Amino acid sequence: MVKRPKIAIVGAGGNVGAAVAQWAAIKDLGDLVLIDIKPQPAEGRALDLTQAGAWEGFSNVGFVATDKMDAMAGADVVVMTAGVPRKPGQSREELININAGIVKSICGEVKKHAPDSVLIVVSNPLDAMVFVAKQVTGFPRERVIGSAGVLDSARFRSYLAQAAGVSIEDVQAIVLGAHTDKDMVPIVSTAMIGNVPVGKVLAAEKINEVVENTKKGGATLTGLIGTSAWLAPGSGTCLMVEAIVRNQGRVLPCSIELRGEFGVKDAFVGVPVKLSSKGAEKVYEFELSASEKEAFTKSVAANVELMNIARGFLG
Ligand code: LAC
Repeated sequence: MVKRPKIAIVGAGGNVGAAVAQWAAIKDLGDLVLIDIKPQPAEGRALDLTQAGAWEGFSNVGFVATDKMDAMAGADVVVMTAGVPRKPGQSREELININAGIVKSICGEVKKHAPDSVLIVVSNPLDAMVFVAKQVTGFPRERVIGSAGVLDSARFRSYLAQAAGVSIEDVQAIVLGAHTDKDMVPIVSTAMIGNVPVGKVLAAEKINEVVENTKKGGATLTGLIGTSAWLAPGSGTCLMVEAIVRNQGRVLPCSIELRGEFGVKDAFVGVPVKLSSKGAEKVYEFELSASEKEAFTKSVAANVELMNIARGFLG
């Protein structure tokens, strides 16, 4: 019997979880299970999504919504969006005291009920939460992956496209390092516009402005909306789910445990990985520019600091 992929979204009563569900339903990626410790918001999101199916033609209208963690049993992919989002003026790092405990307890459930799943972590502070997830589940690093680079790279590409006045389709650019305003690393040295290095298209000053806008991209949105963004975070996360359930071998920046790649061991930050049904199958290394290397090293140090705080919640 051919089985549809099963995708469990934990925290699905919240905006990001609901957005992941929305994109996944539009792409018909599989059977969706919407889990939230508060059953009513999850049920409401599922109902809303079901009713959108009338015009969107979803083939699956049986979205499960529940507060029962065992509903994720047998999931191929678990997306963890649980936790509090940041408020205007708050950094992602400040969420660690609340979110580390939430992520820890849910990861215990993932280990128990979906031991063969690929776990995609979206909760903030992202890279430290990937560390918590890895520690609690004990899954191989291929199956504990943080979603942030896809979002930050999408923001980088969109600001580059706007600055150059071109279609975003023709902008290739990635953001590596930590998912924090101060320590993410938009990679200018490999950024391309229509296969032309970005430095040949935009003035250095303009590129710097794009880099700064990218780094504070999440804060800008939080200031405007009053809570953190969800459409682009949900879309990027769903792209990762798609790459896994359709075994696409996409190369996307994701946060995983580094084991010597980019000269780093035992820290979690964004690097380019090949995403397939196995999860983060392979890391792609390349030479960073001197300033990028320096920024990447700072990013790793910031993650180690947060990891050490997160360790306090693991005991
Ligand atoms: C952002 C949050 C989701 O960057 O981390 O919008």
